[in-house]
Amino acid sequence: MNYRHAFHAGNFADVVKHVAVALCLDRLNQKAAPYRYIDTHAGIGVYDLEGDEAERSPEWKDGVGRVWGAVGDAPDPVRAALAPWLGVVQEMNSMGLRHYPGSPFIASRMARSDDALRLCELHEPSAALLREAMGRDLRVKIEQRDGFDALPAYLPPPERRGLVLVDPPFEVAAGARKADFDWMLKAARAGVKRWPQGVYVFWRPLKDFDQVSAFDGELASMLIEEGGVAPEKVLVADLWVRTISEGKLGGAGVVIANAPFGVAEHLYAALPWLCERLAQGEGAGWRVESPSAEAEN
Ligand SMILES: C[S@@+](CC[C@H](N)C(=O)[O-])C[C@H]1O[C@@H](n2cnc3c(N)ncnc32)[C@H](O)[C@@H]1O
Repeated sequence: MNYRHAFHAGNFADVVKHVAVALCLDRLNQKAAPYRYIDTHAGIGVYDLEGDEAERSPEWKDGVGRVWGAVGDAPDPVRAALAPWLGVVQEMNSMGLRHYPGSPFIASRMARSDDALRLCELHEPSAALLREAMGRDLRVKIEQRDGFDALPAYLPPPERRGLVLVDPPFEVAAGARKADFDWMLKAARAGVKRWPQGVYVFWRPLKDFDQVSAFDGELASMLIEEGGVAPEKVLVADLWVRTISEGKLGGAGVVIANAPFGVAEHLYAALPWLCERLAQGEGAGWRVESPSAEAEN
C-alpha cells in the first residue's frame, strides 16, 4: 500500500465526494432517530494544507482553494447545496484556509450526540493519525483493518438508519484499479443484501467513460435487482475538470444508493457552478443522472 490521501486532500474529487456525503448526512439529520456512519476507507481525518505532502502536491489549491475564494458570490441554490460541507470546512478554518476535513471528520462534526461512527483504515500509521484527529469521542470506533472485509459485519447497523461510504484508493499500481472496481461491487452486493435500506456512497475515479459506465451499469443493476433499491434512488454525480484521457486524474464522482430526498436537486444546483470554478482546461463537464432521470453538460 503506497497510497497517501494527504497528497490529494481537498482536490476537486474530494470536493465532489464530500459535498455529496455532507448532503446525505444533512438529510439524515432531519429526523430525530439516531443513525450510523460507516467509512470503509477512512484516511487520516484531518489534512494540513501546509504539511509536507500538501506542499509537494498542492492539489487542494485547484479544489477547495478555488471554492473557498469564490463561494461568497455564488447564487443562493449553490450556497445552499454546499452549506453542509462548507460549514465544516469553515468551522475548522476561522483564521483562513489551512486544514481540510476528511470524510470521517465531516461526519463527526455533522453527527448528533446519539449517532455512531465506525471507521476502518488499513494503513497503520494512517490509522494512528486518524485516532489522533478524532480525539476522545465515545461515538466513534476505529478499526485498523480491511474495510471491505469489515463491512458485512457492520450491517445492518442497530440504528437501522445511516450511511456507508466506500472510498478505496484506486492505486495506480498495476492491476490495483481493476481490483478496486471489483471489490467495490463485492462490497455493494454484500452490503445491500444485509441492509437494502442504507444510504451508500461509492466513490470512483473517472478516467475512461466506457469503463465507468460499465461499472455503474453493473452496480446499479445489482442494487436494483438484488437489493430492491428503487431505480430513481440510484444517483450518479460526476465532475471532470478537463477532457477525460488516461493518465492524470481528470474526473471523479460518486454513485449513491438510496439517495435521500432532495440530494439530487442540490447536486444539480452545485455541479455546474463547481464545474466552472474547478475547470482546468478544455472539455470540463458534469453530470447528475439516474436510470430514470438524466442531466449532462
Ligand atoms: C481515498 S483515501 C480515503 C479518504 C477518506 N475517505 C476521505 O474522504 O477523507 C483511501 C484510504 O484507504 C486506506 N486503505 C487502503 N486500502 C484499504 C483497505 N483495504 N481497507 C481500509 N483502508 C484502506 C488508505 O490508506 C487511504 O487512507
